[in-house]
Amino acid sequence: MGNVTITNHPLIQHKLTLLRDKNTGSKEFRALVSEIATLMCYEATRDLPLKEVEIETPMAVAKTKVISGKKLAVIPILRAGLGMVDGMLTLIPSAKVGHIGLYRDPETKKPVEYYCKMPNDIEEREVIVVDPMLATGGSAIDAIGQIKQRNPKSIKFMCIIAAPEGLDALTKAHPDIDIFCANLDERLNEHSYIIPGLGDAGDRIFGTK
Ligand code: PRP
Ligand code: URA
Repeated sequence: MGNVTITNHPLIQHKLTLLRDKNTGSKEFRALVSEIATLMCYEATRDLPLKEVEIETPMAVAKTKVISGKKLAVIPILRAGLGMVDGMLTLIPSAKVGHIGLYRDPETKKPVEYYCKMPNDIEEREVIVVDPMLATGGSAIDAIGQIKQRNPKSIKFMCIIAAPEGLDALTKAHPDIDIFCANLDERLNEHSYIIPGLGDAGDRIFGTK
């Protein structure tokens, strides 16, 4: 069974408050999404394995540690997940980036896939799927299902805001993955938007509304 971690560090909570504010414009919104992704990445990579190495400081030989060659991939769910990629790469610059394009049909609320391009050595990689919003869970469940078919070593899912309905659905559909979210909100409304949430993440990142 995967773990659910609420990454509620004070810096993340503060930035999330600014992100929710309807008066926050796209430029600041994008910067905040990226900063929160960096802070969450710190938590999501906490279990990376280390190996001991020896290096020479100006004073002596030190037995010290480096990350033991784990290969990572960050996979944003388009569009809104794109806003988290740079923030992730700030901490894990050698990660490869795959893309999976899904949008929620406004009528059915079901995800519709329109693009998928993965690193060709994905079987050797630990994957972190990123999307700011987990609402009904349909998009994340579908994306993770597609990624599983390509046999990565492991999958984690990172979102900024989750609805209880989406978290429940995702943990049932993919009980093996670790999930990181900055806040678990109250509920979905009748249009499957998260309450209180932050509105439409893709539109706020790209200024399309
Ligand atoms: C949003 C969001 C998630 C999805 C969450 O994307 O970024 O991908 O909705 O909803 P769900 O959990 O009910 O599937 P949207 O479909 O609005 O597409 P966009 O990112 O292109 O705007
Ligand atoms: N997608 C969003 O961008 N926001 C929500 O509240 C729900 C789905």
